[in-house]
Amino acid sequence: MELNDAEKNPTLVPHRGFNLISGTHDPDDVDQIYNLEIRDSDVFVVTYPKSGTIWMQQILLLLEAKGDVSAINHLNNHSNGDLIPWIELNGNRQAFITAPSPRLRVTHLQHQFLPPALSQKKGKVIYVARNPKDVLVSYFHFHKLANMLETPKDFDDFFEKFMRGDVFGCSWFEHIKTWYSHKDDMNMLFITYEEMIQDLHSAVEKISSFLGKELTDEQLASVVKHSTFNNMRKIPQASYEKVPDDLLSHQNGRFMRKGIIGDWRNHFTQAQNERFDQVFLREMEDFPLTFTWDMG
Ligand code: A3P
Repeated sequence: MELNDAEKNPTLVPHRGFNLISGTHDPDDVDQIYNLEIRDSDVFVVTYPKSGTIWMQQILLLLEAKGDVSAINHLNNHSNGDLIPWIELNGNRQAFITAPSPRLRVTHLQHQFLPPALSQKKGKVIYVARNPKDVLVSYFHFHKLANMLETPKDFDDFFEKFMRGDVFGCSWFEHIKTWYSHKDDMNMLFITYEEMIQDLHSAVEKISSFLGKELTDEQLASVVKHSTFNNMRKIPQASYEKVPDDLLSHQNGRFMRKGIIGDWRNHFTQAQNERFDQVFLREMEDFPLTFTWDMG
């Protein structure tokens, strides 16, 4: 379906079947990510937006610091995104080339943009998936906060945009299906936001062992303690409260908003829910995993 100019999202730049954000991403630079050399110690956290990216940043930083929260919070005016940056943001690709190991990065990009070495089991990938209904709700609120994204007219309008994939990240379904189809050719840990909510300790243990870390029980407990929703919210570097106002309008809401499972129930109409379920069933018909998400 062709969109007319009034319907097109002015903040997005369609590029090779994906949407980038105008002014935030440079398509030529993004294309060069493919040519990066990968070290065995590199780790990429891959997420569709609003699936737990900053949560994973905090966990990985704490694992590196063996649970010592003061070691990661000592720099004022930084956010965790400066320490584990988005590879696709302007300027970050160049910095990656000479950065010391271990190079920990996050990305929302589709698989086609990442270096093929990852698919030859070089480096590691952690894919975090979240119930797309909750992703949609979280993304709606984030659009009110993030100045680089279009402010939604209302929830119904945003719902349509998300269903069309007319957002940064494009289709949630394509994102998860494409990445998951490469699971076996990569060193990939596939984990869900919901499993992290339900048992953070087990999730942190799983991530730690996937990364080959050896932490004592006490150190692991400290990682868990400082990555709970309530504790992360108290750490400005982790909660993105320090991101400058020109990027995030903090008066319009918080990056760390609710951090719960099932907030979609407070937003979706019955008709929207039924439509979403139909699309989900159709799109995910051949997906090899079943999720704990209650699609009802
Ligand atoms: P909500 O908007 O539903 O609260 P991302 O980092 O990928 O943009 O995802 C942001 C979402 O993850 C937000 O969801 C945010 O609150 C949630 N989040 C971040 N840290 C979390 C934590 N420690 N526990 C639970 N949810 C967390």
